Formats: sequence, structure tokens, C-alpha cells
Amino acid sequence: MCGIVGYVGSGKAAGIIVSGLHRLEYRGYDSAGIAVYPQGADHLQVVKTPGKIDDLEKLMLTEFQDPAVLNATIGIGHTRWATHGEPNQVNAHPHMSGQGNFAIVHNGIIENYRDLKLKLEKKDHHFRSETDSEVLAHLIEECYEGDLRAAVAAALEQVEGTYGIAVICKEHPDMIVAARKGSPIAIGVCDDATIVASDVSAIINHTNKVIFLDDGDVLLARKGDIDITSLKNVPVSRELTNIDWDLTQIEKGGYEHFMHKEIHEQPEALANAIRGRLVVEDGTSKLSGMQMDAYELARIDRVLIAACGTSFYAGMVGKYYFEDFADIPAEIQQAAEFRYRNPIIQRDTCMLAISQSGETADTLAAVREAKRKGAIVLGLCNVVGSTIAREAGRGVYLHAGPEIGVASTKAFTCQVAVLAMMAVALGRTRRLSIQAGRQIAESLQKVPELAQKVLDQEKAIITVAEKYAGVQDAFFIGRGYMYPCAMEGALKLKEISYIHAEGYHAAELKHGPIALLEENVPVFACCPDVPGKSKTIGNMQECRARKAPVIAFATEGDEEIAPHCDDLIVIPRCPEFLAPIPVVIAEQLLAYHVARLRGLPIDQPRNLAKSVTVE
Ligand code: F6R
Repeated sequence: MCGIVGYVGSGKAAGIIVSGLHRLEYRGYDSAGIAVYPQGADHLQVVKTPGKIDDLEKLMLTEFQDPAVLNATIGIGHTRWATHGEPNQVNAHPHMSGQGNFAIVHNGIIENYRDLKLKLEKKDHHFRSETDSEVLAHLIEECYEGDLRAAVAAALEQVEGTYGIAVICKEHPDMIVAARKGSPIAIGVCDDATIVASDVSAIINHTNKVIFLDDGDVLLARKGDIDITSLKNVPVSRELTNIDWDLTQIEKGGYEHFMHKEIHEQPEALANAIRGRLVVEDGTSKLSGMQMDAYELARIDRVLIAACGTSFYAGMVGKYYFEDFADIPAEIQQAAEFRYRNPIIQRDTCMLAISQSGETADTLAAVREAKRKGAIVLGLCNVVGSTIAREAGRGVYLHAGPEIGVASTKAFTCQVAVLAMMAVALGRTRRLSIQAGRQIAESLQKVPELAQKVLDQEKAIITVAEKYAGVQDAFFIGRGYMYPCAMEGALKLKEISYIHAEGYHAAELKHGPIALLEENVPVFACCPDVPGKSKTIGNMQECRARKAPVIAFATEGDEEIAPHCDDLIVIPRCPEFLAPIPVVIAEQLLAYHVARLRGLPIDQPRNLAKSVTVE
């Protein structure tokens, strides 16, 4: 969670760090801070505040007036998503050591911080904040004997938990030491600077050549120069990755919110996700990242999917694909369950970890557990070079482009498209005929068009949003391929509009939740013209009989459905297996406009963060 930026070079560190923090704000945004070391100064200059990076910038205008501070060429900054201690000025990062010689920014959780704190208190360390991170700053000071890298490594040897950290020290005005365990650190090396950040989006306006630290790595960064070692000071070398996202892809491009931009990017994102991967003639797909030949694909006899949140719901759709296209038993588990449930993994079980960010702690832990048990592990990630992608070793990238809005949108639809391609490739090594494979591949080719047709319905969706923006509770229902869509629709609405929304299998309402229905509790029914429609219509009638307004996501030209609902959101006609894509895009637009009408901070909903790197 949280965003980290560190800069050492010839430029003005404060400005560079703050602009990097703006790009990382989606990782956490309840408080922020920066520390720089002005040349010739006798102390590190720190400013911190509750609130967002804009608040930090305002404060810097008054606190950083001295030209020496503004011209400082080394510094670190942080945007926080609180885990220990409320988001206030004292708990914000950077944290200083007792003597004020060290400043650190930390992402992660120090699990044994209480024990460490007690030990340090006995050595006369006094703590200002309630955070686990401050303990690390004091511990580094305690371990320091003139060598910053060695002190950081020695402190980290005593730490249990996770960290991505960056540290500066008064005695070393030309270096940043960074390290990672369970929390990403990327490094951008330019001729006249080195930038350290928890995410490449803070780096790519300086360089697109990035190195990622692995767990256990310690980085010593100077202007344009880096040195990576293990905690035990053994040199290690890490590959250079070329990041092909550009800045315009990360900026809002005229949209008011990233989420809106990302919803509208879906035709292009989907085109990128399928580009060069469908082999229509052979009725299959070619996903080279899976690094599996037909023999290996044919060996897989079970698929176990682990994911969280929106990625989990995409995985639910994927489970149907593996069963429908490939006749392979597939299960899906919340990644947090997977890691603790001791799942049964046999020799030919394929574990598929789905994660947009590639950094979600529970999904990463599931990958590690599956590897330990000898599964064939595949990652399905969007962020290139992310930890899950690297640790899985093989898998498929979404190519959806950066997703900045906290609510996941284009990642979902691209995950669904990629899962269909994976299932078809597996299916073709078994009983999926070439004709059936071709039909699937041909339909998948049209997915960008399908997405565009839903976006063309935006005005009509706004009208529905206006009608229901004031409600306090809502339900989403669906069955078959529409069941995950009901879950995802409810998640999208609740997380950005703060309306209490629940997703249910359409048949489940009558087993309890129907008691909550009344005239101001709308039920959104995912009910395109696919098998099972008549059953869902029956469930819609049950809702209307309890006076709940029913809004149907229905197929264009479907005349049967209108009499059974109060409002319609029309999606284009498509094969059943593809219906989750248009339905979920319509749900995203609905949630977006409801939240906008309620005047909420859509890209940064309260209590959330883009990348959940804690359990
Ligand atoms: C919801 C949302 C979250 C994420 C979840 C997993 O809109 O964004 O539910 O889907 O935190 O994140 P990733 O896919 O990065 O593992």
C-alpha cells in the first residue's frame, strides 16, 4: 500500500519527488510527507501532513521557502495508506530516527515492531508516532557504525514482516539506500539521477528503463549509479526491464477521472489484450508467456484460480471457461483463503493467480504456497515486472495499459478476454473441436466493438444513474455467467458510491435477502438474452412483487424483458460466454455516474488503495 519516491541526482529533488507522489497517490492517500537534505545543511528538512499530495504541496510553499531546501538534490517522499496509527501529521512518513540523522519511508508492515520498540526504549529511544515504521528508523540508527547500507541491512535482519523502504542519512548526502521484502521497489537509472519508487509510474517520465528489486535485495543508489546486494552484502544482478507505457497513457487525457478514462479505454485495451494471440484458422490462441507446448497443456487436469476482489470475479468467469471450453475441473478461491486452507494440489494441477497490480499480498502468498506444493503456476497480471508476474515465472500479461483509478475496470474485461483465450488453448488440446474453437476465436475478435457499443449507451445509463443515485441500498442479481457480473456490479457500486450494494445469485435472494426488499431498494438484474434468462425474469418478478424497482441489463431488441422491469440498460447481442464483458462495462458506467452525481472522490474512494500489499 502507500507510495514511495526517492531521488538522488542533479535536479531539484523536492519538485521531482512531489510529482512522483502525485502519480502514486492511488496507492494510498490519507497523509503524505517529504524529507530532503539541502547541501551544507546541518539537518534533514522534513514536512508532513494529513491529507493528499495537494495538501503537502501547499505546506511546502511555506515550509520549503529557503532556496537551499528547494535546490536540494536528494530526498525521499511518501503517500500513506494507514495500517498502524491514524492518518495524522505525526504518523505520516518520512519517519526520523531519534537523533534525526536518518529519515525513512516505508511501505509494508513490521510485524514484530512492538518487541523491537521495547528493546529500543530500553536503550533510551523515544518514539513520537504510533507507527511500526518509526521503529525501523530508530533501529537503523542503533545499527549504524558509519556504513548506511550495512546499518539498513543489519536492521532489516531483525525485522519480521514486509517492507519496501528508502532511507537517507545526514552523513551520506549523496546516497539513498532502499530495500524490499514483499513490497515492490523499482529503480530508474538516468545519466544524472537515480529514482527509487514503489511503482514505475513515478519513474517513467525520467526513464523507461527500470530495474526491480527482488525480496531480500538492498540497493545503494547514487546519482546515476546503483549497486544491489543481498542483506548479507553479496552482490546480485537484476535484469533491466523496458517499460512501454508512456506518460499520456497515465495522465487523464481530458477525462475528469481516471476511472472514466479507463472505462472508455476498454475497446483499445481489449484490442491490445487479444492482439496477435488468436489463431482463428486453427480455432485456438497462442499465449507464448505460458511457455507450454501442447503436451504440457494437455497434461493439466485441474485448474485452481486464486485472486481477490474484481480479479476474483473475473476468475469466476474464467472457471466457467475452463469447464465449458476445456472440460477441465476448475475451482476458484479467494487468495486469502488459499494461503491458509492447505489446498489440495496434485502433480498436474495448474494454479492461476489473477492480479491486475501483480502485487496483492494474498495472491502473492497463494502463488508461493502453490509453488511450494509443486503446482504448475501461471500469473495473469497487468503490471509488467510485478512481483506475481516474476514469481509465477510464466503466465500472460493483459496489456491493458496502466490502471490508475482505484476501482478496477479495464483490467476486469481484459482478464475475462485472456481467460477465454487460455481456456480455448487448453480446450484445443482436448475435446474442443476446431469449429467450436473458431467460433470462440471469431467472437473474441469482435470484443473491442462490443465494448464500444456499450460505451455508446452512456447517455441512457446516466439517465438511470440519475434516477437511483439517491438510494442507500441496492442488489445485483444474475445466474450462470451473469452471477460473477452481479457480484462485480455490486462491488463497483459500493466502493465508489458508498451505496450499500450486495451481489447475489438470482436464485439466492429468496433464501433470505428478499426480506430487505422494499420500494427504495433497487434490484439490478443481469439478464441478457442467454440461457437462464426466463429463470432470472422469474426472480425479477419476485422482486417487483415486493415493490423493489428492477433495472435490467438486457440485450438490445429483446422485447420479452421490458414488461418485467422498471428500467432497461441495453447491451449489444453477443454469445453467452462474452456477455460478462458488455454487462460489466455497463455496470462500471452506472457506478461511475452514480458516484459522480453523489459528488464523491471517484479515483480515490475512502479507505481504499489501488494495490493491497498487506494481508
Ligand atoms: C475493485 C478493486 C479490487 C482489486 C483487488 C485485487 O475495484 O480494484 O477489488 O480487484 O484489490 O487487486 P489486484 O487485481 O491488483 O490483485
